[in-house]
Amino acid sequence: VALSQDDLKKLAAEKAVEAIKPGMVLGLGTGSTAAFAVDQIGKLLASGELHDIVGIPTSKRTEEQARSLGIPLVALDTHPRIDLAIDGADEVDPNLDLVKGRGGALLREKMVEAVAERFIVVADDTKLVKGLGGSGLAMPVEVVQFCWKFNLEPLKDGFAAGREIGKLEGVVEHGLFLGMATSVIIAGKNGVEVMNK
Ligand code: A5P
Repeated sequence: VALSQDDLKKLAAEKAVEAIKPGMVLGLGTGSTAAFAVDQIGKLLASGELHDIVGIPTSKRTEEQARSLGIPLVALDTHPRIDLAIDGADEVDPNLDLVKGRGGALLREKMVEAVAERFIVVADDTKLVKGLGGSGLAMPVEVVQFCWKFNLEPLKDGFAAGREIGKLEGVVEHGLFLGMATSVIIAGKNGVEVMNK
């Protein structure tokens, strides 16, 4: 039977969850792939195969999902060191650099993943690109609502502006996650591949 894209997302997510050990503080990602990881964490907690972990959700959606599964939640304020974050991505390049945020949660994701000792990205192989921007889709940039058209003006060639984007007044955060992922788990028709930094 051919595996669906959802099957592949689930395979990658469940492989990442194998890295979770009791005692860990976890960063819980956002999006359809990360949701499979959160589901699996909930299952393992319920069966007793996993215990003594806490999670920091990267969105309201993930927070609600985690709560419904009984995953204990904490905040960065009290748990400023994260052992392991698991999250999806929109694009993954061969250097493990990412575009993220098309699911609309990039600010919280970046805050959590920036302080994670390990950050495992989970994705199906449609997310692989030779170079960032390769999907041809727009790069997410989160801006303040005040005068947003004015603020967007210098972003017309946003991708080429790269790291400069973040320096613009009115830009909250952008979707380039550079040098942050420590591993990427990619699931494709031929199996699951782990890419390490
Ligand atoms: C959320 O803001 C994003 O960064 C997601 O992690 C990204 O869009 C991947 O989502 P999917 O797993 O649903 O493709």
